[in-house]
Amino acid sequence: MRIALASDHAAVEVRLHLAEWLCERGCEAVDLGCEPGQRVDYPDYAEAVARAVVTGDVARGVLICGTGIGMSIAANKVAGIRAALVHDVTTARLAAAHNHANILCLGGRVLGIVTMEEILAAWLETGFEARHQGRLDKVTALEQSN
Ligand code: RB5
Repeated sequence: MRIALASDHAAVEVRLHLAEWLCERGCEAVDLGCEPGQRVDYPDYAEAVARAVVTGDVARGVLICGTGIGMSIAANKVAGIRAALVHDVTTARLAAAHNHANILCLGGRVLGIVTMEEILAAWLETGFEARHQGRLDKVTALEQSN
């Protein structure tokens, strides 16, 4: 699976680690920055990953900032994105099963690295439950009503 990752300056080391972790598990990690040593604005990186997902360039995206909050707010402004900010394995699993989240947002300053690995694994390994499709259709209709 081809997965785009990006972070702001608050989570560069975390992102590099998770990119490598994904590669070790057979995924193709597409690293969209930021560069180490930069100070950047998270919406720019959220947009880059969100566009890569909605155009189909990648199957899914991972966004990491200090809390994950800014990335999730920004990514969800792009039509077609269902970005989920998760803090544990249970919410990661449910983000996949119920919300069909196509972007996972993580807080690099608030979670430990092992927890983030476990979250990523749960999100990648859990399938969407089609019984939730009607609710997602309503989310899409809401998006299109803007
Ligand atoms: C950057 O200092 C910080 O605000 C950002 O990483 C993120 O936590 C925003 O939601």
